[in-house]
Amino acid sequence: MITADLIEQMPKAELHVHIEGTLEPELCFDLAKRNNIEIDYSSVEELRAAYQFENLQEFLDIYYQGCNVLIEEQDFYDLTWAYLEKAHQQNVRHTEIFFDPQSHTTRGIPFERVVDSIIHAMADAETKFGLTSGLIFCILRHMSIESALETVDEAINYRDHLIGIGLDSSEKGYPPRLYKEVFDRAREAGFKAVAHAGEEGPPDYVWEALDILKIDRLDHGNRCLEDDVLVARLAQEKMALTVCPLSNLSLGLVKDIAAHPLREMLFKDLKATLNSDDPAYFGGHVNANYIAVWEALNLNENHLYQLARNSFEAAFLEDQQKAAYIAELDTFAQENGWK
Ligand code: ADE
Ligand code: ZN
Repeated sequence: MITADLIEQMPKAELHVHIEGTLEPELCFDLAKRNNIEIDYSSVEELRAAYQFENLQEFLDIYYQGCNVLIEEQDFYDLTWAYLEKAHQQNVRHTEIFFDPQSHTTRGIPFERVVDSIIHAMADAETKFGLTSGLIFCILRHMSIESALETVDEAINYRDHLIGIGLDSSEKGYPPRLYKEVFDRAREAGFKAVAHAGEEGPPDYVWEALDILKIDRLDHGNRCLEDDVLVARLAQEKMALTVCPLSNLSLGLVKDIAAHPLREMLFKDLKATLNSDDPAYFGGHVNANYIAVWEALNLNENHLYQLARNSFEAAFLEDQQKAAYIAELDTFAQENGWK
C-alpha cells in the first residue's frame, strides 16, 4: 500500500535545490528588516501572491530580487539551516545544494562569505541530523564568460568545499556550447559537472551539455523526450535527470501534473530523480513533488522505490555511502511490503 505518510517517511536524496530558491517570504522580510533593505512588496502575503509565473524568466526576475536581502554570514547560515531542517523532516538523507555566486559577488558580497556560511550550516546538519550534503556552484548563463571564468577561479580556491559546477538562469538563447571553456577549466580542477538543459530549451541544448560540457548529471532535461536518439543515449549512459515537477508546473512547462512526462521517462528507462528546485516559489519541498506525481500519474511502489534509489545512485557520493543509503531504502521497502 502507498500513502502520503509512507512517501514522506521514505529515505531519499535531493539533487536539485537552489539555496536562494528556499528563501520563504517570511525570512525574506526578516532579513530585509535586519539589513535595512527596501523590498517592493508591503507584506509577506503580497510577496507570496506575486509568485505566479508564466515562464522561467518571470520567476527569475523575482528570485534575483529576493537574493538582495542576503548580506551577512548569518543570513546565508539562517537560509541554509532553514532548508536543512526542512530536508531532515522530509527524510532526505543526503542533499546536493546549488548556489549562484554571481548573484552575490556582483553586489559586493565576497564569495568566501557565502560559501563559508552555507558550509557551516551543512556541517551542523551533518552533526545534528546525520544529514550529508554537497555544495555545487552554478554559473549564471545571462552573465559574461569573463565573469563565469572569474567565478570558476574563486571556486578553485575553495576546491575542498565544493563538489561541482552547474549552469542555470535563463536558458533560451544561451546554449551550453557557450560555456565550454568555463566547464573545461572546472572539470580540469576536479569538479563534477551538471547543467540545466532541456527545461525550456530544445533537445540540442541537452546534446551540447553532454558532448561539449561533458556533464555527469542533467538538470531537468524534460525536452529530451522530443528526440528518440537522445533518449536512447541518455538511457544507455544511465545519465541521471533531476526532474522537478512542481517547478515545471509553476513555470508553465506542463499544463497540469497529470500531463507531466515523468512516467514516460521511467518507461523509457531514463534515470529520473525527483527534486524541489526552488521550493519557496513553487509550492512545496521534495515530498510534495513525490506526492503530486504519485497521485496525478498513479505511480506504484516500484516507481517510487526506483525514484528514491535513483536519487542515491545519482548522488556524488562514494560507493560505500550510496550502498548504505540504498540498504536503508531497501529495509524501508521490505518493511512496508513494497518489495
Ligand atoms: N535558477 C533557479 N532555479 C532555476 C531554474 N529552474 N532554471 C534555471 N535557473 C534557475
Ligand atoms: Zn534549477
